[in-house]
Amino acid sequence: MDGGYDSGYKSCPCFWGRDPGKLVRHLANIVPDFSGLSVIDAGCGEGKNAAFLATCGATVHAFDVSEIAMDHAKKLWRPSLSINWTVADITEIEITENAYDIVVAYGLFHCLRKPETVRKVVRELQRATRPNGYHAIVALNSRFQDLRAAHPELSPCLLAHGDYLSFYQQWNLIVKEDVDLTETHPHNKISHTHSITRILAQKAPR
Ligand SMILES: C[S@@+](CC[C@H](N)C(=O)[O-])C[C@H]1O[C@@H](n2cnc3c(N)ncnc32)[C@H](O)[C@@H]1O
Repeated sequence: MDGGYDSGYKSCPCFWGRDPGKLVRHLANIVPDFSGLSVIDAGCGEGKNAAFLATCGATVHAFDVSEIAMDHAKKLWRPSLSINWTVADITEIEITENAYDIVVAYGLFHCLRKPETVRKVVRELQRATRPNGYHAIVALNSRFQDLRAAHPELSPCLLAHGDYLSFYQQWNLIVKEDVDLTETHPHNKISHTHSITRILAQKAPR
């Protein structure tokens, strides 16, 4: 199955780059020690966030529906890192309750088919998070998208920033941004702008 980015993955060996995302770097500033922590990276792509957190000492379960992204990931990162790479559709796997200290979902939610599916997956990932655990999520939102030239293959599911905030009402919101991101990708180098929701949140203690 194509998660919406396979034409990009086919075009180069590392579409998203090797540096971790901003929220994941932020997390590294507030979590004193990652050893013994369990992470799920849902929609991991080529694994820039998974590899960073594993390098910090966490054990990472990295899922992506794209076989091409997963092939890239396995070539890009040291096999000795504690990362379990799995090709799977996140909507079809069973996510164990209370299994993870950290959930990373960078760019996943807008790839899902319907708003109800996004809500369901967010809820599942919240259920899978231990008390005091963290979510680092990034998603295109409904405020502004300029996709036609740069991403003709993508028809994202766009929720409002406020919808994402409402999912995390019971959580401590550390970052809750609705920002414009202007970027270019290696396959077509077309500059374009997205409005994106960035949330870094901590679950309440038990
Ligand atoms: C915007 S990309 C971000 C990749 C990576 N998280 C990063 O930040 O570099 C979104 C990723 O989600 C994957 N994806 C889309 N739908 C998915 C699904 N239902 N289950 C698992 N992964 C999915 C895509 O294949 C793609 O690799």
